[in-house]
Amino acid sequence: MPLLDIVKINTPKEDILYKPTQQVRIFGPALHMLLNNMLETMRASQGVGLAAPQVGISQRITVIEYPDDEEDPENTMRVYELINPKILKARGAEVEQEGCLSIPGLAADVRRSTQVTVRAQDRNGNEFRLKAYDWLARVIQHEVDHLDGKLMLEKAEQVYKLVENEEGEIEAVPIEMSLKQGVR
Ligand code: CO
Repeated sequence: MPLLDIVKINTPKEDILYKPTQQVRIFGPALHMLLNNMLETMRASQGVGLAAPQVGISQRITVIEYPDDEEDPENTMRVYELINPKILKARGAEVEQEGCLSIPGLAADVRRSTQVTVRAQDRNGNEFRLKAYDWLARVIQHEVDHLDGKLMLEKAEQVYKLVENEEGEIEAVPIEMSLKQGVR
């Protein structure tokens, strides 16, 4: 399966990242192929979630891969395909640091709900509801934001530059919030 190009900020194609996406109406082979390719692309980039605008397609589609059991990720990885997702309920709030495949080299502290109920359709158009907590709830909110044309930087309480230190470890170094606009 071909890997798709990921649209990144500050590149010629970035406008699609800031545009609300269109509802999906046709649940056929083209959608299935896109979902398969998005999953492969996300895995190849070691992402947890990927939204269609990030591969240049302005439709309400996102894929997420996350373990059911964080203690045993290898045996419990689960793929979520959310078509036309809508967050019905959101509760709680927590600030955590997150990243984004479209924003390489940066991380951001974002306040998100700790529990969400989302309604979506699967790849065949069947509607379902999903209740998610903590990190999975965060990923879902991050991806639904993508589908609304919003990036994490817009909601960031602090932005960090990811730099490699002398030991070869990645460190998140806080950057001045005034630079955030330059990052748009
Ligand atoms: Co993202």
